[in-house]
Amino acid sequence: MHTIIEPFKIKSVEPIRLTTRAEREARLRDAAYNVFLLRAEDVLIDLLTDSGTAAMSSEQWAAVMRGDESYAGSRSWYRFAHAVHDIFGFEHVLPVHQGRAAERILFSIRCRPGDVVPNNTHFDTTRANVEHAGAEAVDLVVPEGLVPSLRHPFKGNMDVARLRALIAERGRERIPLVMLTVTNNSGGGQPVSMANIREVSAVCREHGIPFYLDACRFAENAYFIKLREEGYADRSAIAIAREMFSHADGCTMSAKKDGMANIGGFLATNDAALAQQERNLLILTEGFPTYGGLAGRDLDAIATGLYEALDEDYLRYRTRSITYLGEHIAAQGVPIVQPPGGHAVYLDAAAFFPHIAPLELPGQALVAELYLEAGIRAVEIGTVMFGRRVPETDEEIAGPMELVRLAIPRRVYTQSHVDYVVEAILNIWARRESVGGYRFVEQAPFLRHFTARFAPLEAEHTEGR
Ligand code: F0G
Repeated sequence: MHTIIEPFKIKSVEPIRLTTRAEREARLRDAAYNVFLLRAEDVLIDLLTDSGTAAMSSEQWAAVMRGDESYAGSRSWYRFAHAVHDIFGFEHVLPVHQGRAAERILFSIRCRPGDVVPNNTHFDTTRANVEHAGAEAVDLVVPEGLVPSLRHPFKGNMDVARLRALIAERGRERIPLVMLTVTNNSGGGQPVSMANIREVSAVCREHGIPFYLDACRFAENAYFIKLREEGYADRSAIAIAREMFSHADGCTMSAKKDGMANIGGFLATNDAALAQQERNLLILTEGFPTYGGLAGRDLDAIATGLYEALDEDYLRYRTRSITYLGEHIAAQGVPIVQPPGGHAVYLDAAAFFPHIAPLELPGQALVAELYLEAGIRAVEIGTVMFGRRVPETDEEIAGPMELVRLAIPRRVYTQSHVDYVVEAILNIWARRESVGGYRFVEQAPFLRHFTARFAPLEAEHTEGR
């Protein structure tokens, strides 16, 4: 059989509500054209993020019922620690409430002002935590990773020559650790090859620098290695994952992605002295080291979910459904980041709306159209998120790319939902020349995308007539 199906049947359903175009126009206007300010019940297909939005399995719900809520040394903790040791292999594991808590603990201990942390591409919370610790976050993704239309099997790889040059220039003592994000979320959800992990690890070992993986989407990355890298076709996803981590000294993890859980994460290391320092900080803000800000039931749901994320029937369906969405829109000419990533399809809004200048917010226009057309919620990763206003002059600076991310929650939507999204995008594509830009009405000085208020330029032109 060639048809790839959802490898599950549905036990519990959550209704989603169709709205009329007129309702959506009113809701979006009330939300000042910022989809973060919508009520989720007014969204039909929610592709804002794949983080914490997974559907849990019947085994995970059973695990929730097994959750042991003892403050210290609960059975849930031992099941969680066993699963993490088994897959990730690190000696010391600290549970945390989500990925950025692991980042904060790690970077606040390891980084000093003047340090520099290389990554393929820092996720925004990772960058913020490095910078909060006074260090500089440097992105060293391979040049292929910066060209949306270019196809390459491992666009998440780190440029090893640039890493070597950075170490030579800044000195190894100024580099507290090197990190690789698998898959590379901010770079389009693109995977990192085992060869690149091995090579970066070798450079780090040569200079005595700890090497970490940002492991959020480790299972999707392992599956891409199986599909695309020579010598891995016959290896299991779990064996590939174990090999990936065997090259690292530690990792940060948000279990809201490939942990298949709605909350949780961990920080892991092989360094006993560092782990002791980390535990002390953990107790300060997260909780006792056998629960770290999570309920026992969360630990149990993650212990089960980590293995489910590595199930190859699941991974085949997962990567296929994202590729399916990407292929069906790209076949009609819609510009996307190629090839589609592990958890999301990224639309190139600058190429979609060439008549809308970056400062007229083409990504924001596309996000608004997706909601108006079909009740779909996506996220802008362009000038709204990464551009800025210079406070002294009020000058607006554009972001490096104008992308819109359609992130697919795990096990939540079926193929007909994806077909619906394809149709919506193609409808907008057909009338793209009639879509206008937006402007900021209000914005915060940082992380402005969450709370900004917008107005459509077109409506203002019309009203002014
Ligand atoms: N690292 C990566 C690569 C991420 O994608 C995220 C979260 C984090 C770290 C932080 O984890 O949210 O549990 O604190 N990404 C989400 C997203 C928010 O929508 O891509 P967290």
